[in-house]
Amino acid sequence: MIVLLVSFAALLCPTIHSEDASVGEYSTTWPKIAPQYCNRSNQSPINIVTASVQGNPNLTSFNFTGFDDNSTFRDIKNSGESVVVNLDDEKMTVQGGGLPGLYNTVQFHLHWGNGSSSPGSDHTVDGKQYPMELHIVNVHSKYNRNVSAALAAEDSTALAVLGFFIEGTDEVNKPKGWITLTSFLTSIPNSGNTNTGIKNQTTLNSLIEGVDRTKYYRYQGSLTTPSCNEAVIWTVFKEPVKVSHDLINRFSTTVFFKDESASVLNTNSFRGVQPLNGRVVTSQVVQTAASSAAAFTLSVVTVLLMSSLCWL
Ligand SMILES: *[C@@H]1O[C@H](CO)[C@@H](O)[C@H](O)[C@H]1NC(C)=O
Ligand SMILES: *[C@@H]1O[C@H](CO)[C@@H](O)[C@H](O)[C@H]1NC(C)=O
Ligand SMILES: *[C@@H]1O[C@H](CO)[C@@H](O)[C@H](O)[C@H]1NC(C)=O
Ligand SMILES: *[C@@H]1O[C@H](CO)[C@@H](O)[C@H](O)[C@H]1NC(C)=O
Ligand SMILES: *[C@@H]1O[C@H](CO)[C@@H](O)[C@H](O)[C@H]1NC(C)=O
Ligand SMILES: *[C@@H]1O[C@H](CO)[C@@H](O)[C@H](O)[C@H]1NC(C)=O
Ligand SMILES: *[C@@H]1O[C@H](CO)[C@@H](O)[C@H](O)[C@H]1NC(C)=O
Ligand SMILES: [Zn+2]
Repeated sequence: MIVLLVSFAALLCPTIHSEDASVGEYSTTWPKIAPQYCNRSNQSPINIVTASVQGNPNLTSFNFTGFDDNSTFRDIKNSGESVVVNLDDEKMTVQGGGLPGLYNTVQFHLHWGNGSSSPGSDHTVDGKQYPMELHIVNVHSKYNRNVSAALAAEDSTALAVLGFFIEGTDEVNKPKGWITLTSFLTSIPNSGNTNTGIKNQTTLNSLIEGVDRTKYYRYQGSLTTPSCNEAVIWTVFKEPVKVSHDLINRFSTTVFFKDESASVLNTNSFRGVQPLNGRVVTSQVVQTAASSAAAFTLSVVTVLLMSSLCWL
């Protein structure tokens, strides 16, 4: 019995995080953030402290429409800040997942560092920064797929952004969708370059394969680039997409911030984490480190109680 309780207690033991909670230094190549909303208090990205994440029963599974449809990519563009793929927002929607209604899926873009062994994600988890992050931008259906109108409304639920961490894998040519995506980078080296050849080649699902989409963090925040509007319901998925190192490396070695002649490669296109200012991050987790520590204490007390009972 005691052995059972002890092993039970061991199972409940909180996982030890070896990562330092600090987030390191950020690049100076990323344009300085200044305009309008960037100095407000609900900014993104943030460092997610897993021990402070609270359980939230509203965070059910999502319904994704059009994510398996290979005719949804409209074009791929070098925006000067990022690589953006514009999507068919009539065919693609997201709902469920605790979101207040139906959202149209407008575009996705990426943030990266300087190759697969360099930090590049916007969000961090317990101080861990991944090499890249994929953002799928969705706008509430009440704005009729007009993002400018949604931002003008000063509505904190106007956009729902889905964030996926990207992690390097030694497996080659993974996932297939990333081979297709990265094959277009050489055709859009300069800011403003667009290629419509990406139509009918791949699906959004093939870029985020392998991730359990029922496990995610939720918090209220902003766009991570100017004008930093505090209009975003953030979803950050816990599991990373595993992408071959060489495919990750293509971003920081192919795409330029402005134009090739200026020869400034787009690297470190992440903002750096912002203060929480009292905001709470929630998740499906019912068991936080704090509650498992409490459970551990309870088990120890039970073990002691049981063993003292043995002496009676
Ligand atoms: C934030 O920045 C804006 C524009 O740069 C400025 O007008 C405003 O005073 C700033 N607010 C605070 C609280 O610093
Ligand atoms: C869950 O949703 C309800 C209804 O929208 C809301 O009142 C409640 O605060 C939400 N709970 C959490 C933990 O966010
Ligand atoms: C892409 O596929 C759609 C739907 O199957 C089709 O209507 C369209 O003509 C195709 N476009 C190209 C450029 O192949
Ligand atoms: C998601 O889809 C399922 C199955 O089609 C449906 O039963 C459910 O009501 C949908 N949920 C939302 C929030 O749309
Ligand atoms: C990125 O990495 C390359 C190769 O390792 C290096 O030459 C370059 O200086 C790095 N760029 C930045 C901005 O750190
Ligand atoms: C989108 O909204 C903006 C701002 O409200 C408006 O000026 C613009 O005409 C709208 N665009 C379309 C295509 O309706
Ligand atoms: C796109 O999807 C259609 C319908 O599911 C399929 O017939 C076609 O082979 C697909 N094309 C590619 C390039 O995967
Ligand atoms: Zn982004």
